[in-house]
Amino acid sequence: MCGIVGYIGDKKATPILINGLLSLEYRGYDSAGIAVLDKDKIVVRKDKGRVNNLYDLVGINDLTGTVGIAHTRWATHGKPSKENAHPHMDNSSTFAVVHNGIIENYTEIRSFLENKGYKFLSQTDTEVIPNLIHYYSENGIQGENPFLRAVKSAVDDLKGSYAIGVISNKYPDRLIAVRKDSPLVIGKGIGENFIASDIPAILPYTREFYLPDDNEFVEIYENKVQFYDSSLVEHSKAIKNIEWDACAAEKDGFEDYMLKEIYEQSSAIRETIGSRFRLGEKCDFDDLNFSKEFLSSINKIYIVACGTAMHAGLTGKTIIEKLCKIPVTVDIASEFRYRDPIIDKNTLCIFISQSGETADTIAALKLSKEKGATTLAISNVIGSSITREANYTIYTHAGPEIAVASTKAYSSQVVLLAILAIYFAEVLDSTSNEVLENLKSEILDLPVKISNILDNTEEIKAFAKKVYTEKDMFFLGRGTDYNVALEGSLKLKEISYIHSEAYAAGELKHGPIALIENNVTVIGIITDPKLIEKSLSNIQEVITRGAKTLIITNQIIPSDHFNYVINIPNTSALLSPILSVIPLQLLSYYISKNKGLDVDKPRNLAKSVTVE
Ligand code: M6R
Repeated sequence: MCGIVGYIGDKKATPILINGLLSLEYRGYDSAGIAVLDKDKIVVRKDKGRVNNLYDLVGINDLTGTVGIAHTRWATHGKPSKENAHPHMDNSSTFAVVHNGIIENYTEIRSFLENKGYKFLSQTDTEVIPNLIHYYSENGIQGENPFLRAVKSAVDDLKGSYAIGVISNKYPDRLIAVRKDSPLVIGKGIGENFIASDIPAILPYTREFYLPDDNEFVEIYENKVQFYDSSLVEHSKAIKNIEWDACAAEKDGFEDYMLKEIYEQSSAIRETIGSRFRLGEKCDFDDLNFSKEFLSSINKIYIVACGTAMHAGLTGKTIIEKLCKIPVTVDIASEFRYRDPIIDKNTLCIFISQSGETADTIAALKLSKEKGATTLAISNVIGSSITREANYTIYTHAGPEIAVASTKAYSSQVVLLAILAIYFAEVLDSTSNEVLENLKSEILDLPVKISNILDNTEEIKAFAKKVYTEKDMFFLGRGTDYNVALEGSLKLKEISYIHSEAYAAGELKHGPIALIENNVTVIGIITDPKLIEKSLSNIQEVITRGAKTLIITNQIIPSDHFNYVINIPNTSALLSPILSVIPLQLLSYYISKNKGLDVDKPRNLAKSVTVE
């Protein structure tokens, strides 16, 4: 969480830094700040609240410096306040630091520095960093490049995760950056260079990026970017060209990023399918090239992820088990790593992460690797941390997802898992060609079916208007419809702040039905023809107890039994979560709008959760 951006060049740094922060606000938005080198001092302006507040504080025109760093915060240590906002400076105002991550041993370091006479102004873990850099710069640094050496000595003492940007008024010609387990990219311009937590923040200025590895130090000058390993030995680094269009990360006429991203699902899925297959031809995964011998040796698959990505994994499990006959366990990343999972060389662990930066998922991946599993990352962000850790990576290619609530990433993850399962089944010869070809044809039809749903949103808008003041809602489904119930419920909670529960419909009578009372809203998802009778009986049980019902279905059902029915196009039960989720994404979106909430930046959340 938290977003950092830095600039060094021949232009005024402030507008570039503020623009970068606005694009990074999805990572955290409880306070923001900027530090710019102005003549021979570092000027810091910061406060609690959104980046827009900085405009009043900064007075864009009165900070003319061309070197600076900036930060938008998602509080971990210390409440959102001016004192706790970044950048933080050392006591002598020589070094300013922005930091994303957590310094686990900051209390120890703080006591050490307090004993040396340093004073602290904030409750943050970050404030130890500039002071530690100052301490080392005054104590025992020898040889060339004392700034870099002081930063390295300080970083050597840190435990935890960090992406750090540092400037100093003693060394006004450079900024220094380093990362460990937190995202950081370096943008290379002409006569100017940048650092940022992600690519879109600086995409308006450059398409050329360096992706630093963990524990690599980077010295960034106006005309040069120099990389050092963890022992400060210089080395060169390959540049990556990013083909994304800067506009892909803009709102494009939509009121919010979330709505834009919901509407992008057809095109996102087309990109995910890409050239992975054509009808009548085998799937193409030349980025994996798994042999029959290798896949036959896999006797267990784990799919590990968090939040929405985990919900995509649940449907992935059903598809892989059905087509490949390999048992799949889906796990929440933060649980997986602490329960000593049974893993060996015959285990394939698949990690799904839109951002590729989720700390829990990365930690689970590292553990699986240590235990000898083959690891495969599914991510949307090229070069993200998870893709650099995993043995294999496949990308969803859904384009940048900015809204905190994940939508197009989910559908593209389910599609990619479905294509992956077909590929495994083709290699293993575990399912008939006819079944696989039918499924491929259904996948190719998905974009048009998604567009059909998105062309007819009046009913869902009207329903949102009726229910937006409610306090509780329930989502029910069986089989893959249950996975969608979970995802619909998560979306509602996170952007509408309405309490909701998702249950496997058959489980209701084992307890939760006690919560059903007159007029409570129950949303049923019914798409699997094999489960239709059972699902209908479960919905009937809540109707009998006074619930009002909305049913999302692609089946023929007795619609007069229910208060509202939304029909969606038919598809295979394995793929229906890609279609049935869309009315639920729209429902939470329109409820949130009716409540006047900030859809893209819901309270307490951040897009990329880089703390465990
Ligand atoms: O970037 P990741 O896919 O690893 O993120 C995982 C979750 O944090 C994420 O899906 C979260 O649940 C979303 N806010 C849901 O909309």
